[in-house]
Amino acid sequence: MGEVPQHIGFIMDGNGRWAKKRFLPRTAGHLAGLKALKKVILGCISEGVRYVTLYCFSTENWKRPKDEVDYLMGLFSEKIMGELPFYNKNGIRLLTLGDTSVLPADAAESLEQAVRATEHNSTIVCQLALNYGGQDEICKAVNRAIREGVEEITPAVIRAHFDNPWVPPVDLIARSAGEKRLSNFLLFDSAYAEFVFCDKLWPDWCEDDVVSIISEYNSRVRKFGGLA
Ligand code: IPE
Ligand code: IPE
Ligand code: MG
Repeated sequence: MGEVPQHIGFIMDGNGRWAKKRFLPRTAGHLAGLKALKKVILGCISEGVRYVTLYCFSTENWKRPKDEVDYLMGLFSEKIMGELPFYNKNGIRLLTLGDTSVLPADAAESLEQAVRATEHNSTIVCQLALNYGGQDEICKAVNRAIREGVEEITPAVIRAHFDNPWVPPVDLIARSAGEKRLSNFLLFDSAYAEFVFCDKLWPDWCEDDVVSIISEYNSRVRKFGGLA
């Protein structure tokens, strides 16, 4: 058996296409995507993954129709809190990544409550990337450092000023639904990450997909600029 990636990032894409194939509104795809997310987290737990980052809403997703944005914000406020027993039963510690201060008040508040209510869970850390953008993350970190009077910006300084600096860099980034791009996800920490792109739409993902991306990860040789 190969090594388990310590930290996996998921670009959960294809909810809209999943719904369209079924002649359903895009929002139905987002609801189905939330169900898939729970299966994927359970799959990660079974495989021994310690950290996951889930790309839920990008800094660019505000460009979508208001109805869709409102629906997603509703999901973050109602469903996240509604799923608290699931998180607590499975030892899932929730964190947010990104600027949640500009989310609608009820969404921001329930996320904050969920983070607090799960802070003692220790099986897996699950970062919800919400209003997250990799470029924004780097700028925010640099601005924090400047405000502290740091005189020289280095990669280590930037990383130390991230939202959750103690979370290790991502080892593997998996993207569903066929697109082969980062879409502003984890730009800094992806420096030496492995990438797996899958055609399967996000709402169709389950525990087995975690097993197969980890098996693909295990076929790679990571060198970090050195020699194998
Ligand atoms: C990903 O699915 C979910 C979010 C970006 C919130 P999409 O909504 O992007 O689905 P497609 O890419 O349109 O199929
Ligand atoms: C990336 O998906 C964002 C999330 C999964 C939250 P998008 O669907 O927004 O990305 P693009 O527009 O295809 O690059
Ligand atoms: Mg998409």
